[in-house]
Formats: sequence, C-alpha cells, structure tokens
Amino acid sequence: MTTIRTGALPAHVAVIMDGNGRWAKHRHLPRHAGHQAGLKAARRVIEHCAERGVKALTLFTFSSENWQRPQGEVTRLMELFLNALGKDVRELHGNGVRVRFIGERKGFSAGLQQGMREGETLTAANTGLMLNIAVGYGGRWDIVEAARSFAREVEQGTRRSEELDEQRFTGALSLSHVTDPDLFIRTGGERRISNFLLWNLAYTELYFTDLLWPDFDTRALDEAFAWFGARDRRYGQIVEPEEQAGA
Ligand code: IPE
Ligand code: IPE
Ligand code: MG
Repeated sequence: MTTIRTGALPAHVAVIMDGNGRWAKHRHLPRHAGHQAGLKAARRVIEHCAERGVKALTLFTFSSENWQRPQGEVTRLMELFLNALGKDVRELHGNGVRVRFIGERKGFSAGLQQGMREGETLTAANTGLMLNIAVGYGGRWDIVEAARSFAREVEQGTRRSEELDEQRFTGALSLSHVTDPDLFIRTGGERRISNFLLWNLAYTELYFTDLLWPDFDTRALDEAFAWFGARDRRYGQIVEPEEQAGA
C-alpha cells in the first residue's frame, strides 16, 4: 500500500507568505514596513527548514498578478528584493543553500535579473536546502509555458503529440527539479491558492493559518509540521486501519 502516515517531516514545503500589508496596517505603519517584516519572517523560515532537514522550500514572493498593485508598492518591493538578493544570497550560499527563481522574469529590471542569475550560478553546486523563490510567478503561466515548449517541439518535428504524458509535462514545469510539495502553508487567513502551483499541488496537504506572515515564527512552522505528520495520505486509494497501524 502506498499510503504514508509520515509522522515525519515534509520533504518539500510550499508557502504563500500572505498578510504583510494587514500586519503593517494594524500597527499604523505603511505597507512597506509589513514587507520588510515579512522578509525577516522568510529568513527565519528558511533557516528553520534548513535546520530541520527539509529538502526543498518554495516561497511565493511576488505573483504575476501582484504587478497590478500601485506603482509605489511595486517599486518599494523591487528595492527590497534587490537588497535581499545582494546580501541574503551570499549568506544562504555560506549555509549550503541552493537558490532558484521561478516565474516570468521579463518584467524585472536588468539589475534584478542579473542578481537572480548570479545567485543561481553561485549556489548551483550546493547540496543543502533547495530554495525556490517564486517571483512574477503564476501557476497558469507555468502551465502555458510548459504547453508552449512541447508545442514548439511538435512544430519542429522532434516530438509527436502522442508522446505528451503527465511525466513529460511535469518535466517542462518550473519545479521539474524537485518532487511535488508535501505540505502547502498559507498564512494571512485566506483559504485560496491565488494562482500558485496549480499543477504541483494535486496531492499536497493544505494548511491554512490566520497568522499574518510577519508573525509566522519557528513555533508556528513546527505546528504546521506536526499537523502534517498526523495526516493520512491516501492518493485516492483505500487504506485499511491495520495497514495504517503497520505502515
Ligand atoms: C503578501 O502580503 C506579500 C506580497 C503579495 C508581495 P500582502 O501584501 O498581500 O499582504 P495583505 O494580504 O495585503 O495583508
Ligand atoms: C498571494 O497573495 C501572492 C503572494 C503572497 C506572493 P495575494 O495577497 O496576492 O493574494 P490574494 O490577492 O489575496 O488572492
Ligand atoms: Mg495578500
């Protein structure tokens, strides 16, 4: 039987880090202060995942729809990314973290795109936590890109359409280098996916918390891990109680 009551740690954790703006508003601060506090929370979570032995962490940092926010907020967010890229990636490298950026890069400044490339190159050979940072990312964009890459191969005559299957399609998506997320966490109280990893979340355990992202600390993360450890993952199959007990 393939079910796993893991009792264990998720190998891949995917997070929608939501609630920065409300966190700031509660404190009568500008939204940007919430994003700064959110960056600190992200650092905490990355470090804790690495310490606990999580293999991959995917953070939703900026969605394809977030480009439609007021210009001022987008500009400040870009400044924050640029600063973090310069500083944090070197520190992550020192800790053996491998960094990848997933998403449509076209909208980002040349400096940011260069920073992303350099960060990926610098950390490519590391063997610690695989950190995927989703920027300018949309689940639908990812699926369309994968479909387009296959269509191109068919057009060029190097593939036949019958050759497309789930495995090949998965291999053309942004997260082809990691297994599907085991645990999804969304902070900030909303119960929705907001165009995050649509394909990859098919059998992921979904965890929602009302905590706002800047308040999400290592204890909150451990609570999510404990919740995950108590799940029965059935993948559509039937599990007899005795099989569960012996699993
Ligand atoms: C998430 O926090 C961060 C980004 C989307 C960049 P929000 O900015 O969405 O915070 P709320 O949801 O308005 O509180
Ligand atoms: C999702 O949060 C995107 C990120 C956290 C990067 P949003 O705040 O953009 O999502 P909605 O608008 O509440 O669905
Ligand atoms: Mg939000």
